[in-house]
Amino acid sequence: MTPFLEMLAISKTFPGVKALDRVSLSIHRGEVHVLASENGAGKSTLMKILTGVYAPDSGGLILIEGQEVALADSNHARALGVDIIYQELAVVDNLTVGENIFLAKEPLSRFGLIDRRRMYREAREVLRTINMDIDPATRVSDLSVGQQQMIEIAKALSAQSKAIVMDEPTASLSHHETAVLLGLVRRLRERGIAVVYISHRLKEIFELADRVTVLHIMQR
Ligand SMILES: Nc1ncnc2c1ncn2[C@@H]1O[C@H](COP(=O)(O)OP(=O)(O)OP(=O)(O)O)[C@@H](O)[C@H]1O
Ligand SMILES: [Mg+2]
Repeated sequence: MTPFLEMLAISKTFPGVKALDRVSLSIHRGEVHVLASENGAGKSTLMKILTGVYAPDSGGLILIEGQEVALADSNHARALGVDIIYQELAVVDNLTVGENIFLAKEPLSRFGLIDRRRMYREAREVLRTINMDIDPATRVSDLSVGQQQMIEIAKALSAQSKAIVMDEPTASLSHHETAVLLGLVRRLRERGIAVVYISHRLKEIFELADRVTVLHIMQR
């Protein structure tokens, strides 16, 4: 079966640092692929390349459903169904949950204005798919960090993402929030989404992973 995503011989050089040296990775739909390593081995850099944030050095390839792609930026990757959720959250505090989920893609009425009723109705539907019982009119600043992370996942789902990268998503979550997030990751997998999950925590790795890739720092 053709993987949903493939990275082949990806290298990345920053001034004075070779962060990645010909790394390859395949990501399948309906699987949780854990990426693990010691600090600084290049996990975040690899995922930023996959999601269009950084361009790789020449010589590497990224394939989506078997087709080579040159990702221009993160919007381009998102349009192709590949999204990332960072450990530093990207939600906008002073907006509501619904406004965050539909940021920059708000449903419009036939007069070209934002159709707020539809936006909130659709936000409620997305939240229901992840069993999150929260009013979409709530301000994001009134949510816990764990809930804010769920909003980011809801946002990725509403954008019809097929692959979602989570970079150490539980780093700042409580025990309970971590359990809720792990349950959500399993539901994403059931829905056929490809999840790339970066974690240092062995318990999470054993609980979730269908596949594990470990990056090593080569002797320099
Ligand atoms: N923007 C950048 N400019 C210069 N060097 C960078 C940049 N981003 C990452 N690096 C370097 O690239 C290497 C890989 O870093 P990266 O953050 O991808 O590792 P990581 O595996 O995500 O680490 P951690 O487990 O600490 O999150 C490190 O040596 C880091 O210092
Ligand atoms: Mg990192």
